[in-house]
Amino acid sequence: MNTYILTSLALQQYLAFSNLGSEDLVSLIHPVLVVIFVFPMVGIVSNFAWQTRQRRLAAKQDKNKIPALVGREHVKFGRWLAASVVVASLIALAYSITYKSFIKKGLWTKNNPQAILIILIFVATIASLVLLLRARPKLWRGIFATLTGIGLVVLGQQDGVWRLPDEWYWSHYYLGIAVSLLMIFSLAIIDDIYRSITIRNLHIALNCLALLLFIGQGLTGTRDLLEIPPVGKKQPKKAAVEW
Ligand code: HEM
Ligand code: HEM
Repeated sequence: MNTYILTSLALQQYLAFSNLGSEDLVSLIHPVLVVIFVFPMVGIVSNFAWQTRQRRLAAKQDKNKIPALVGREHVKFGRWLAASVVVASLIALAYSITYKSFIKKGLWTKNNPQAILIILIFVATIASLVLLLRARPKLWRGIFATLTGIGLVVLGQQDGVWRLPDEWYWSHYYLGIAVSLLMIFSLAIIDDIYRSITIRNLHIALNCLALLLFIGQGLTGTRDLLEIPPVGKKQPKKAAVEW
């Protein structure tokens, strides 16, 4: 590297992350998790889903070249995908509630019991997700799936969450919660997908919808990064959009 480049780097006022505050950095955690982990996982799960389907169809005609393990791999990565989508939503909600409600609107000092209750709901939702991933009996899967779903919905109703209620069809919040609930549902019915053709077809239909919702999350998420402060250089005009 020559001296010219070194001097211009040293004189630069803002370098990459130095322009962002800690709040901005925290707001980037779930988009980063989604881009690096969740979206590639969607590709892997869809690829195995396609092969599982092709294998089943080929099996009927007795000319199967696709290995039997594709189904197992689909479920293994599917479980990771489902869990990470729910975790991404929880991180996003935790960011919004902590900064916009606890800190900016002073909920922590004004109504401490409510703030503590919100934290307990977070803990209960994470615990339900872990138990859902571990549970085998149908009844417990149903119970933990319902609890995880309720937790997400209740947390989403808290102050500070940007919901865009009048335009729900392109609200990042509504699409995000919908896709998280679909993932939770897939986890709850894993065993039934093997046993019943109706449930299997329902699984395929719902998860094709989930694929569309993932695309929607990519679109609305990048839009929100530009629209909702505080992200990047805070502009006074944009601040009006926030509340
Ligand atoms: C991107 C989302 C997903 C799509 C598009 C998708 C689609 C599919 C398709 C097309 C099949 C094959 C059905 C057949 O053989 O006729 C399948 C099977 C299955 N899926 Fe998914 N799926 C998705 C996510 C998940 C998730 C998150 C789970 C569970 C956590 C899951 C669990 C299963 C199970 C247990 C099977 C049966 C596997 C087998 O027959 O060996 N899927 N899925
Ligand atoms: C599976 C994918 C994703 C899910 C499930 C998801 C989920 C969520 C949820 C539940 C919220 C809370 C709503 C709120 O407080 O405003 C949120 C907020 C947000 N998400 Fe995502 N998200 C996903 C992908 C992305 C991506 C790819 C980006 C950007 C590249 C992104 C950027 C944002 C932004 C900027 C906010 C608003 C934060 C704020 O209120 O200041 N998200 N997301």
